[in-house]
Amino acid sequence: MALSSEEIMNIQKTANIVDIIGSYVSLEKKGKNYFCICPFHDDHNPSMCVNEQRQLYTCFVCHATGNVFNFVQNYENISFIEAVKVVADKIGITLSEGYKTVSKYEKHYEATELALKFYQNNLKSKDGSYARAYLKERGLSDETIQEFGIGYAPRENDALSKLLINKGYDENLLMSIGLSSKGNVLYDLFRDRITFPIHNASGRAVGFSARIFYESDDAKYINTKETVIFKKGEILFNYHRAQTEARRLKYIVVVEGQMDAIRIYESGIKNVVATMGTALTMEHVKLLKKLNVKVVLCMDSDNAGEKATVTNGELLEQNDVDLAILRLSGTKDPDEYILKYGIEAFNTAVSNAVSYFDFKLNYLKKDKNLNKVDDVTNYINQVIAELNKTKDDVLINLTINKLSEDYGIDRNILLNKVIKVEPKKTKVIEHQEREKLKKNQRLSEILLYYLMNEEKYIKLYEQELSYIPDETYMNIAQDILAFFIKYNYINIADFITYEINSDYYTNVLNIIDKYANMELNDGDFIGIIDKIKTWINEKKIMELKNRLKVVTDMNEKLSITDEIAKLKKGCVNQ
Ligand code: GTP
Ligand code: MN
Repeated sequence: MALSSEEIMNIQKTANIVDIIGSYVSLEKKGKNYFCICPFHDDHNPSMCVNEQRQLYTCFVCHATGNVFNFVQNYENISFIEAVKVVADKIGITLSEGYKTVSKYEKHYEATELALKFYQNNLKSKDGSYARAYLKERGLSDETIQEFGIGYAPRENDALSKLLINKGYDENLLMSIGLSSKGNVLYDLFRDRITFPIHNASGRAVGFSARIFYESDDAKYINTKETVIFKKGEILFNYHRAQTEARRLKYIVVVEGQMDAIRIYESGIKNVVATMGTALTMEHVKLLKKLNVKVVLCMDSDNAGEKATVTNGELLEQNDVDLAILRLSGTKDPDEYILKYGIEAFNTAVSNAVSYFDFKLNYLKKDKNLNKVDDVTNYINQVIAELNKTKDDVLINLTINKLSEDYGIDRNILLNKVIKVEPKKTKVIEHQEREKLKKNQRLSEILLYYLMNEEKYIKLYEQELSYIPDETYMNIAQDILAFFIKYNYINIADFITYEINSDYYTNVLNIIDKYANMELNDGDFIGIIDKIKTWINEKKIMELKNRLKVVTDMNEKLSITDEIAKLKKGCVNQ
């Protein structure tokens, strides 16, 4: 049986955030609120505020925010459900029987965890002596081997399968989590390999990467296949260990191989994750964005690593991730770099990481002979194309100056090329549109913040608007409404709990963080509703104008113009 959301909310209502946070850090009361040194960044002045009335905490510096469960989850680096259990324990509530089987995949996790332990023990046994010697030669300490749960899968055909079957797990389950396969008989998929467990973001083991450690034609690594608990595109190796440190230090290093991540971590930089050789996906980007820190992308030094830097960098850049590119040279990958030059050198390289644009400028020079006119022309055109992607005037100017100096080309000719693609006028309009969009987003966020706070605002919204012309914000509004319909009340802390599994969870936390100190005022709320009405009207007018362009029927044209006129009047009246 799973823990119900009612049960979780009951725990939340019984627990007082001030007492729970106070059990971890010392709180000082100032006025209505409590303050403490924020445990989520390197804080010296108390910058975290705990609001008893709203049952929320917010840090003014690192923007950590959330309810009592979020605090415990992040402080103890555990999953949400585990945090619920910790809070329940602290206030003496016993969770319903079998709370552990919260996930319908609990058995999958359990069996994976048992496999992890089995491999781990096996590495320590006589059987594992060669594997141990290999790890030793690679310079991994016993502590690292223990911390990362590194193990050794024995040579026998079915040692693990047999053990798990004996423990009552059935064949189908073992096959479905990628540990076993079946021909005539059931056999282990990982044999005679060093095993690196892979965990999901909440720290549960979900799969393995298994390395061969002697000369062989077989694949160097075999990784768990895609399973219901191991979704490659959603997992970054070491993410669960790296999160807290990344938030504290405000950056995270992203490498390709788990061995690289382990080496970097062991050397003291704990804010590191590995993509495990796959291209970054949108889900990875979401995981990284959630940290709200700079991403230092450090792919292998070879050509493949350079290509990966371009594709991964492009995706991160497009999604507005604060990005720096680190290209190491002299060794194949970060692991070897640190062994050869030391962690200090790596650290210096991290601080010297360049912007994605600078990396791209360099990258475009590759395979070109810049003494040849053709190649220079080609290069400059490619750089101009890059410049046309950016809206940053300063960057455009600096780059043009540099190109002009380096290749002796008239500055105005270069400038003309940039402007030609993007005439000044559209730039101004684009700028205005962006500003308007920002303003409307802000309005929607404030509206949602009101809705999360008080029932009367939900009712007003329903009467007056019941629509926001933006999919994300609209969906959050629907979630708030769904909460209200289900429980017949609203407050922020409970709504956060309710949203924990929603795609909009991070958006909700961000909104709360932004407006946590805003006073609510009925007059302001009405003002916001009116402005959103205007926005809706403008949007409709825009759509109608676009339709007008393609419609040929005279009558339809007339009726559209009519409608536009009416809407315009509506705008003026408001
Ligand atoms: P070491 O050789 O142990 O130092 O590993 P590495 O991190 O240098 O490996 P490499 O750069 O070759 O590969 C990066 C990542 O890609 C690895 O960590 C694996 O997750 C993955 N990978 C490498 N080789 C294979 C392979 O043969 N098969 C699969 N499925 N994945 C691989
Ligand atoms: Mn390597």
